[in-house]
Amino acid sequence: MQLTPLHIQGGRELGGEIAVQSSKNAALPIIVASLLSSEPVTLHGIPRLSDVDTILDLAHHIGTRHAWVGPNSLSLYTPEILNTHAPYALVSKMRASFIIMGAILARAGKATVSMPGGCAWGPRPVDQHVKAFRALGAQITEDGGDFAAERTGSLNGTFAFELLTVGGTHNAVLAATLGDGVVVLENASIDTDVIDMIEFLNSLGARIEGAGTNTLTIHGVPALRGGEYTVIPDRIEAATFMIAAAATRSRITLTNVRPDHLRAVTEKLTEMGVDITESGKTLVVDATNRDLKPVNVTTQSYPGFPTDVQPQMSTLLATIPGTSVVQDPVYPDRLTHVAELHRMGADITVSGYTQVIQGAKLHAAPVKAADLRAGAALFIAALTCEGETVIDGVQFLNRGYERLAERLRGLGADARQPEPALASAMD
Ligand code: EPU
Repeated sequence: MQLTPLHIQGGRELGGEIAVQSSKNAALPIIVASLLSSEPVTLHGIPRLSDVDTILDLAHHIGTRHAWVGPNSLSLYTPEILNTHAPYALVSKMRASFIIMGAILARAGKATVSMPGGCAWGPRPVDQHVKAFRALGAQITEDGGDFAAERTGSLNGTFAFELLTVGGTHNAVLAATLGDGVVVLENASIDTDVIDMIEFLNSLGARIEGAGTNTLTIHGVPALRGGEYTVIPDRIEAATFMIAAAATRSRITLTNVRPDHLRAVTEKLTEMGVDITESGKTLVVDATNRDLKPVNVTTQSYPGFPTDVQPQMSTLLATIPGTSVVQDPVYPDRLTHVAELHRMGADITVSGYTQVIQGAKLHAAPVKAADLRAGAALFIAALTCEGETVIDGVQFLNRGYERLAERLRGLGADARQPEPALASAMD
């Protein structure tokens, strides 16, 4: 759907407090994991995002009934799997949908899921998901753009991932949770979103050991019960607002934060000269009256510096005098923000996955987001410059940031998304 652009009148200092939403990337797999139980599950802290609507549409197709029982609370009930086929029309909207395969395979013994395809920044393969399923005893065939998986008994055995993959780990854990086998996953992801899904599954009676370490042992159980669970805070959203505060040389307070999930970001901002104070679930980020220093940043799997914060960090560094180098080997093509930042006066030279950034003063310009975190980079850039920046591609921002314009206004920003009628009257 084409949405009206986001208008930001920048150059203002931010201030005040913002409550960070719960984690999108934890909520999505936890919603999928709820399919493993035939009893009702209630989830709290589900952000109201288009990606959540997308996964709910897919779950509905598979047999899940859902109801919002509070602003961010969701009741889910999957008494039986009605459909083992996740079609292209639903899966292609969001790559994360591919983890529905593990859930359907666990619950129904077979699953057909459309290949997710590429995205704005590269092919993003699922080879590790498929290799894990095969190694653990599932038969996988590829036909007409679909992967079909089938298991005759419970999944069993050991699989070592060739690289750290969040989605691959989610998928293999989901597939192995039900049954009477024992599955060991080596070189598994220790990402916070993997830990949260495992803790959710264990709260329903799953027996998964080793969350937060690289070796997971999953003892299959016959069934999961229902239950209630609260999703962790969104560390990527928190990092985005921390960087927005630094880029506008402001002081803001973030609540609903897990500071222990943000170490790599906090350390990098501190190295640059930003003052960050932790107190329980609150962070105060202070960059007022500060000369920030350029730094070098390389992304890594958690707990390293997140690829999901790379475009926002590149924007911040583009406002700091001196030379910074940003490298994103996790997603080497995640660079759609660069050409748009050039339109705003940024001096960024790209070679492979390396950005060499010479800090400069940015200026307002019409720009377009081509993906979620590029959109975040652009709204941060817009907040730093005098004049009005109009950001198109708002549908990408709506995938990951809840009520963005309204919440930015809460921090004192001049951010508006005109109603469609008003926007067309102005055309
Ligand atoms: N990879 C493979 N083969 C696979 C799976 C992954 O080569 O079978 C590679 C990827 O190409 C990438 C690396 O492994 O280079 C890591 O990918 P991973 O599987 O960990 O990513 P993902 O699970 O598809 C999640 C987040 C992304 C985030 C990455 C990395 C969700 C819904 N998505 O994706 O979040 O960038 O982990 O941390 O959890 C976002 O929120 O903007 C976003 C894109």
